[in-house]
Amino acid sequence: MARHRHLSRRQRIVRRNRIILACTSTILLIAIIVIISIAVRERNSKSTNNKETENSVTNTQTNESTDNVTNTDRENISSTEASSEETTAAYKVTSKGFKIEEIDGITYVDGVLIANKTYSLPGTFVPTDPDQPVTEERSIKCLDKTLMSAWNTMHKDASAKGLNLYISSGYRSYNYQVTVYNTYVRTDGVAKADTYSSRPGHSEHQTGLCFDLNTIEDSFQYTDEGKWVNDNCYKYGFCIRFPKGKDQYTGYQYESWHLRYVGVDLATKLYNNGDWLSLEEFFGITSEYPN
Ligand code: DAL
Ligand code: ZN
Repeated sequence: MARHRHLSRRQRIVRRNRIILACTSTILLIAIIVIISIAVRERNSKSTNNKETENSVTNTQTNESTDNVTNTDRENISSTEASSEETTAAYKVTSKGFKIEEIDGITYVDGVLIANKTYSLPGTFVPTDPDQPVTEERSIKCLDKTLMSAWNTMHKDASAKGLNLYISSGYRSYNYQVTVYNTYVRTDGVAKADTYSSRPGHSEHQTGLCFDLNTIEDSFQYTDEGKWVNDNCYKYGFCIRFPKGKDQYTGYQYESWHLRYVGVDLATKLYNNGDWLSLEEFFGITSEYPN
């Protein structure tokens, strides 16, 4: 302080201006540092958000492309929220909105195994839960366990009414169907055979979830057995798999003797108060050979 007193007026002004300049520069410097750090922070946060969005898009695209490879492409893609809000799953649905899944080459619609002209089975497929082990190429015993239980009840009730129901054809292996189909093709030609016999890998008989009753003759529908089956099989979980007049949906002519086990709920819907719906109509799926 003592030194200041000896400064000239001009020197004091110069000194004061230097102090003002230093303070201003410091404030400016601090302001610049603050602005830069805010800008850097905002940039980092934007780049993190972008990465999250990209991941989410990639996940969705991966799911869709996987489905495209594994399923036939007649149906629509639908996205849905899965278990957590962040997870997006995509899968195919039928034209009526039922979920289509393909597991180990087998197609399930709304959890129901489908074997028809569009959806085939692997040649190696055998019934997954047979009542008796599958040891032969064809059998009326190694059908699905749940089906057999339902059949036993239905058979007992039919017998109590004096009706004579029996299974004439049950499980047929891929190889056995080769023989069956080729025999019909030799007799009637491919176009005609395709209206009543499935090509190997496309027959429901390979699933162990269906059977033919009594005689595979059109006249079966007019017998007491045929009429009772038509009107009552749904109560036991069976459906008429190829209903009358539904060839354009099923791909096959009417078979009053071929029953498919689908469970009582679905069978009741298909029964439709006596006006049978085919599985294809109900689910909104096709039954057409690709070639
Ligand atoms: N008769 C039915 C369509 C089959 O061959 O499986
Ligand atoms: Zn059949």
